[in-house]
Amino acid sequence: MSALSRFLSFAAALAASLLLSACERPPIDSVQTGYRGTGMVQVYNPRTVADQIPANQPLAAQPAASPEGPRAKDVYKNLQVLGDLSVGELTRHMAAITAWVSPKEGCAYCHNLTNLADDSKYTKVVARRMVQMTQNINSKWKTHVAGTGVTCYTCHRGEPVPQQLWFGPVAQPEAPYFIGNRNGQNAPARTVGLASLPNDPFTPYLKKTSDIRIAGPTALPTGHEASIQQTEGTYGLMIHMSNSLGVNCTYCHNTRSFGNWDESSPQRTTAWHGLRMVGEINNNYLEPLTSTFPATRRGPTGDVAKANCATCHQGAYKPLYGAAMAKDHPELLAPAAGAAPPAASAATATLPAPVAEALRSVLYFDVGSAALAQSQSTGMSKVIASLAATPGAKATISGYHSAAGTLAQNQELAKQRAFSVRDALLAAGVAESRVVLSKPQQTEANVSGEDPSARRVEVTVK
Ligand code: HEC
Ligand code: HEC
Ligand code: HEC
Ligand code: HEC
Repeated sequence: MSALSRFLSFAAALAASLLLSACERPPIDSVQTGYRGTGMVQVYNPRTVADQIPANQPLAAQPAASPEGPRAKDVYKNLQVLGDLSVGELTRHMAAITAWVSPKEGCAYCHNLTNLADDSKYTKVVARRMVQMTQNINSKWKTHVAGTGVTCYTCHRGEPVPQQLWFGPVAQPEAPYFIGNRNGQNAPARTVGLASLPNDPFTPYLKKTSDIRIAGPTALPTGHEASIQQTEGTYGLMIHMSNSLGVNCTYCHNTRSFGNWDESSPQRTTAWHGLRMVGEINNNYLEPLTSTFPATRRGPTGDVAKANCATCHQGAYKPLYGAAMAKDHPELLAPAAGAAPPAASAATATLPAPVAEALRSVLYFDVGSAALAQSQSTGMSKVIASLAATPGAKATISGYHSAAGTLAQNQELAKQRAFSVRDALLAAGVAESRVVLSKPQQTEANVSGEDPSARRVEVTVK
């Protein structure tokens, strides 16, 4: 063998070993999860699973505290959520959240130690809302978290900032891409398993409510309107879901027909509820905290850190492999009966009544919130009735924002409010083609920025 051919075969062997290095060494295990012949099998590497186990251990619960004795609210000054606990239970709760969220920093991470009632640290304000969020997850979303539930540790794992978060993407600069919008593609991103799929699978599905269903119900395309772009978006989301749980697509689907529910596993239904739960976590709890967080905690476009499936699951099919920590903390299982109402509904009480004229409705929103309040429902039903009465008419939606605060954030909020109204119309069965969104507009300058009439969405029917 000449020196050259020896060198070439060595190079070939080296190249082959590099190519194979991405493959996993056997043995690989598999577990059948559906009927034989359907390919519903979970393939996993026992070594990867063994590595993950130590990182997914629950913390041991502290001994229960006595529910007897004076209520904490009668002893302390500033309890808005946990006042009905006994003093002992409150102390235990504080020790637990310190271990879950800020074990290194201690009580001082949230408290001004010279005055524990003081709310000057943003972390305390955030933590109070997080308690309400956790109570809501455990009581309202049993369809997802079952009796297992979650605690602060499910997301935080001993760190003030959970490891798995997401921010909205930075807009693509127009000039260098004269060929058009890349839609987040051809830039391999871990969010979608390094595939060339739109690399932000979160904003459309975990914040907005874009339609995930793209498969046609018939063999031929007869009026089914999902585009290739929408399909790519769905696949990006599905890769995120599979990665977050450490499972294959067949954990939830029979791949003969991804859309078919009868042939899907029960886990797919759990996941369906999970998608809606994450939307609520992001829109009702995290988003309204945007201005509470300092700029250093916010994303490149100034948005708040948001949750996805990995925030709780962290690679496990059930967070902490199903360990139930919440049962030892009844204060996190449901809102206390006599507790102050959550911030959102407290503010709702002060919203002006909606305008509900024949061809024009005006809906008002809470500070920093894009959620359509219950109190505005007559305005919505008027629009829906007007559209039903005049089949040719369309609804034009414009979001308004106040002049106070940063313009970009205000415009984004006005846009999200307009989207909420659009989504409510679509949910009421109005066809998408009858809903027109117009640009966010700034209202007449108001001094305080707290003028509720500035935070509105107008809908005109014509
Ligand atoms: C992750 C944030 C966080 C940490 C860490 C924390 N706390 Fe708190 N603490 C809060 C929140 C939020 C409240 C208010 C709860 C409410 O409104 O019901 C509070 C309230 C209190 C109160 C009542 C104060 C008053 O007069 O209203 C006491 C006492 C207290 N904490 C003690 C502690 C101690 C002791 C530690 C350390 C072992 C600690 N906390 C750690 C968030 C935290
Ligand atoms: C569903 C997941 C989830 C759960 C459950 C959860 N958190 Fe959070 N938490 C988050 C996210 C997301 C953030 C935003 C991250 C950031 O600070 O940038 C956050 C931020 C915080 C912060 C601010 C930290 C900082 O330095 O900016 C505190 C304090 C906090 N959480 C306390 C709690 C407490 C106390 C509980 C339990 C009562 C809890 N969290 C439960 C997801 C969660
Ligand atoms: C944890 C469960 C789960 C996993 C894993 C999962 N999916 Fe899904 N999938 C769902 C749910 C839930 C929906 C329906 C969402 C809805 O209707 O809002 C869905 C919908 C879909 C759809 C659209 C079906 C339709 O009606 O048009 C496709 C296609 C799809 N998944 C493909 C995949 C692929 C490919 C993978 C693997 C990369 C995957 N899924 C992994 C739960 C899962
Ligand atoms: C707030 C934390 C949290 C978030 C966020 C979350 N999950 Fe879960 N999930 C849980 C808990 C807790 C369980 C365990 C429930 C149980 O014990 O049955 C679970 C269970 C599941 C299961 C059932 C697993 C099984 O084998 O029975 C699926 C599937 C699932 N989650 C999918 C998702 C998907 C998809 C997302 C993102 C859209 C998501 N989860 C987001 C907390 C969360």
